[in-house]
Amino acid sequence: MSVWARHKIFETNSIILIIGVLIVIAIGGLVEIVPLFYLKSTIEKVEGVRPYTPLELAGRNIYVREGCYNCHSQMIRPLRDEVERYGHYSLAAESMYDRPFQWGSKRTGPDLARVGNKYSDDWHRDHLANPRAVVPGSIMPSYPWLATTELDADHVSEDMKVQAHLGVPYTPEMIDKAGSDIRIQATTDAPNADDLVKRYPGAQVRNFGGNPQKVTEADALIAYLQMLGTQVDFKLYDNKANVR
Ligand code: HEC
Repeated sequence: MSVWARHKIFETNSIILIIGVLIVIAIGGLVEIVPLFYLKSTIEKVEGVRPYTPLELAGRNIYVREGCYNCHSQMIRPLRDEVERYGHYSLAAESMYDRPFQWGSKRTGPDLARVGNKYSDDWHRDHLANPRAVVPGSIMPSYPWLATTELDADHVSEDMKVQAHLGVPYTPEMIDKAGSDIRIQATTDAPNADDLVKRYPGAQVRNFGGNPQKVTEADALIAYLQMLGTQVDFKLYDNKANVR
């Protein structure tokens, strides 16, 4: 039987053709997928990336609760216009402890992946309470309750336990100290801050929310925003590599 005659079997019988197509796709799929089972991680480790402090984690939860991701992405693509506007493109490792990730797909407002240390805490406080106060014409909603609502810190350690279960390297000590770490990070006169910074290198410790009497939701959210994109020191890397 010639090649053409054998090919005719497939071309004249749609069931045999479908089975043939499925077999070919299955082989292709196995070749692509099976090697991934043998990799420990598909994410390259990058120096400086650490799990969120309990205060930052609580802030992240508020970010998710308020739906900030509906208008803000957290992923800078390796394209020239993005890099010139926002800074170094995002690395996979930078969101390796984000569960769920906050890459987003819609930008009604700007990308926030590198907003950390771009503005002062005061600016964020005013902006969250009423965006029009600092950016005339802004269409971002106001979140005035953040600065007056006390942070519900009771569940952060449970949240950390779940994250640890999913592979985030929170130690039992970090989980035990979650409550005190929150208070310490959100106050200016923090006596045990060295201890906290040892657990979470590079953590910023201060009164983010502006009210020294209590730890508010604004403390947590601003601590989170001020940390975004600051963990990796990009001076160590070539900023133009891989940018198209
Ligand atoms: C309806 C869409 C919308 C939502 C929801 C929203 N924002 Fe915005 N955001 C904007 C727009 C538009 C801007 C640009 C104008 C401005 O700065 O106010 C902005 C700007 C910002 C900026 C300044 C970014 C920069 O680089 O200048 C920050 C920080 C920010 N938003 C944080 C948040 C946080 C935190 C939340 C959730 C509590 C949130 N936004 C929810 C639309 C939104």
